[in-house]
Amino acid sequence: MEQDKILLKILRDHRENNRNLIHLLEKIQDAYGYIPEDTVYWFSGKLDIPASKFYGIITFYPKFRLNPTGKNTITVCCGAACHIKGADKILEKIRETLSLKDEEDTTSNLLFTVQQATCIGACSIAPVVILNDQVHGNTDSDKVVKLLKGFEKEDEFIGYI
Ligand code: FES
Repeated sequence: MEQDKILLKILRDHRENNRNLIHLLEKIQDAYGYIPEDTVYWFSGKLDIPASKFYGIITFYPKFRLNPTGKNTITVCCGAACHIKGADKILEKIRETLSLKDEEDTTSNLLFTVQQATCIGACSIAPVVILNDQVHGNTDSDKVVKLLKGFEKEDEFIGYI
């Protein structure tokens, strides 16, 4: 029921304001934190536009996500300077700490999403990890694990450390 209301509101805005599909997809992602597959087919049917056209846009723009993201985002810079200074080891340690399996980038409790970035423009303080909006430079695996422990008060994260 609630989902129908959300989708109908987005659809009405799309039709009344002659919005484009990128804007429509942004609104879906704003509402859900990602773009659920069933919403793509819902809009595809309502607008008589092939789902493939939606997916073409979603996969072209890196900002669109087809899977739910965690409440907190950890971004490990894996650009050249960070790579040389051990970004791979840091990334491996984070993934191990969060018990992420091969293809997973988000913890099952949706508390953390881990992603990689190419150079974020802070090479002088490499290696760099961004935890939510906070940049942590000259870091290493131990420092990052300590940072993650700062989230111990967050309900379910205790189990990971
Ligand atoms: S390579 Fe990581 S900040 Fe430039």
